[in-house]
Amino acid sequence: MAFESTRGAFPGTRMRRLRASDFARRLVRENALSPNDLIYPVFVLEGENQREAVPSMPGVERLSIDLLVELAGEMVSLGIPAIALFPVVPAHKKSLLAEEAFNTDGLAQRAVRALKQAQPELGVITDVALDPFTTHGQDGIIDSEGYVLNDTTTDILVKQAASHAAAGADVVAPSDMMDGRISAIRGVLEEAGHVNTLIMSYAAKYASSYYGPFRDAVGSSGNIKGGNKFSYQMDPANSDEALHECALDLGEGADMIMVKPGMPYLDIVRRVSEELKAPTFAYQVSGEYAMHMAAFENGWLSREAVMLESLMSFKRAGCAGILTYFALDAARALQ
Ligand code: PBG
Repeated sequence: MAFESTRGAFPGTRMRRLRASDFARRLVRENALSPNDLIYPVFVLEGENQREAVPSMPGVERLSIDLLVELAGEMVSLGIPAIALFPVVPAHKKSLLAEEAFNTDGLAQRAVRALKQAQPELGVITDVALDPFTTHGQDGIIDSEGYVLNDTTTDILVKQAASHAAAGADVVAPSDMMDGRISAIRGVLEEAGHVNTLIMSYAAKYASSYYGPFRDAVGSSGNIKGGNKFSYQMDPANSDEALHECALDLGEGADMIMVKPGMPYLDIVRRVSEELKAPTFAYQVSGEYAMHMAAFENGWLSREAVMLESLMSFKRAGCAGILTYFALDAARALQ
């Protein structure tokens, strides 16, 4: 870009002309945010007519399936395309081998069936990972040292994904970061005839400290054996590695890739979307939501404007869509 010298006493280029009126601002706007860009992550509870607040995520509630179905109706009328389910698994159903993860009648599987029956047009995305189902909160099966075993874990993830697809899930979203799990899951889906089940891979998932409130919400916090997920989630210092991860997952059969967390990793979103040209999503995670809400509740930031600005930043970075706990509020604000 050339720098123009200004002529005489006035600026050679007046950037402000196009900002001076609403019509011109609208004409030259480069990005748009709409309800079509939003995916709403929800926490699912056992029981009926159950709702529980999540203290570190003001405004977010865990809901039983019947209440979730009501919410789904509202989502459809707001134009939100998809919901992402995260089951809150009671302690007595957790185990070392996470068998509950692929229970045909598990909470996630039942929630999928209920949602697809009540609101068939709402896309249902399931989380493929074992952390809600293991006693130790790691995303996979561990050895005696607490190391998460890649291939043993993948065998169980495949069963979990197959059970979600059989229940009617439109999209399975592996968030576990095991190597080779996308091709393993794709293979079993094809064999079972689920040729149109989409895979949204959490391809560039960082070992982030922004997930704390989520772990409170699903009850996997505090007890994470080893205290961290550094042996499988990515190092926040890395960027090239994210491209490698995303390219591998696309090659293995992922339809969509995700970067997670969101706002602190928009540089990664930009690189991935620009270099790989595949539908790229980002997850504005629980900690990002909590930070915003803390500022809103203290009156430090203006709620609606900042929420929408934060979501627009994802579009500008190259996202096809955003998983966000603000989905409902944002869709209302965008009506
Ligand atoms: C676990 C999973 C996590 C999130 C989504 N799936 C947490 C983790 O990896 O420990 C985090 C989402 C959020 O923080 O909102 N497979």
